[in-house]
Amino acid sequence: MPAAIETTQLTKFYGEFVGLRDLNLEVYPGEVFGLLGPNGAGKSTTIRLLLDFIKPTRGSSRVLGLDSHEGSQEIRRRTGYLPGDFITYPNLTAEQVFEYFINLRGGAEPQDMDSLCERFRLDSSRKFGELSRGNRQKVGLVQAFMGNPELLVLDEPTSGLDPLLQAEFLELVNERKETGATQFVSSHLLHEVEAVCDRVGIIREGQLVALETIEALRARARATVTVEIGDGAVASAAEAFSRIEGVEVGEVDGDTITLLSSDSIDAIVKTAARFTVTSLESRPPALDEVFMAYYNDAADGSEATEVQTKGEGS
Ligand SMILES: Nc1ncnc2c1ncn2[C@@H]1O[C@H](COP(=O)(O)OP(=O)(O)OP(=O)(O)O)[C@@H](O)[C@H]1O
Ligand SMILES: [Mg+2]
Repeated sequence: MPAAIETTQLTKFYGEFVGLRDLNLEVYPGEVFGLLGPNGAGKSTTIRLLLDFIKPTRGSSRVLGLDSHEGSQEIRRRTGYLPGDFITYPNLTAEQVFEYFINLRGGAEPQDMDSLCERFRLDSSRKFGELSRGNRQKVGLVQAFMGNPELLVLDEPTSGLDPLLQAEFLELVNERKETGATQFVSSHLLHEVEAVCDRVGIIREGQLVALETIEALRARARATVTVEIGDGAVASAAEAFSRIEGVEVGEVDGDTITLLSSDSIDAIVKTAARFTVTSLESRPPALDEVFMAYYNDAADGSEATEVQTKGEGS
């Protein structure tokens, strides 16, 4: 089976400004892929190139086995697309917007959008131009998901959604994953999409700086455990903790020891039990911290090269 999305040295310059540089990426059929990066990183540029809304300066891409340019009509017919700035005719009601897109793309049934509108709590009888930002985003989401497209390309789908609807969106992504759809989702923040993504690519200033499975990211995130030791035994406790494999003793402040654990906290708890514990607190691995390190590290040339090699190797 061909890759759902494949890019080769995909590059876009806007005049002298870099939009995207030498992107080599493969998204597998059925995968949920997250493209993450800060403002201006090149996420929308990548998506627009894939769907042939803009032309690459060099390089090429294939979507659903077809060249992005040559096959653009068929690609767009088979793809549910949510642009980053979804706008449409302000005088059309949401329902008329859906009809318009059904005529354009085909494949969807009216009951499709009814159930999607219900899920997203969208009143489809209102005019698009009169909707709030979050409700406009829902119109964009419903039109992307209707008709069960085999590929979904969603540019910042959670933008403007309240937490309940954000959760509803993630559930929908999981359901579509079950039915075998490939989903390419851009976001600023890992925690918004972490629950659904199989892999994430992190771009910064037009360059892919990391390509990782969520498990790999998770494996590198460490839990923080803070233990307060009584009876003035803090020094010997710190010494005992330092002998546990995968545990790093961080700050020791008075009777309180901060530990970083790349493994389960079981060994820490068992070691702590040999002392008088006056308080113990564990914070789960903060994936966002690992992720933010990529945002920052990439500013430093040497580190960027290192992570990039890793990205391209997999
Ligand atoms: N039409 C354009 N003309 C000139 N420069 C552009 C154009 N579109 C994008 N750029 C530039 O290309 C770079 C990447 O922009 P892009 O919109 O792809 O970023 P993004 O990752 O989608 O950002 P955001 O999170 O803000 O949506 C930015 O530096 C941007 O200024
Ligand atoms: Mg964008």
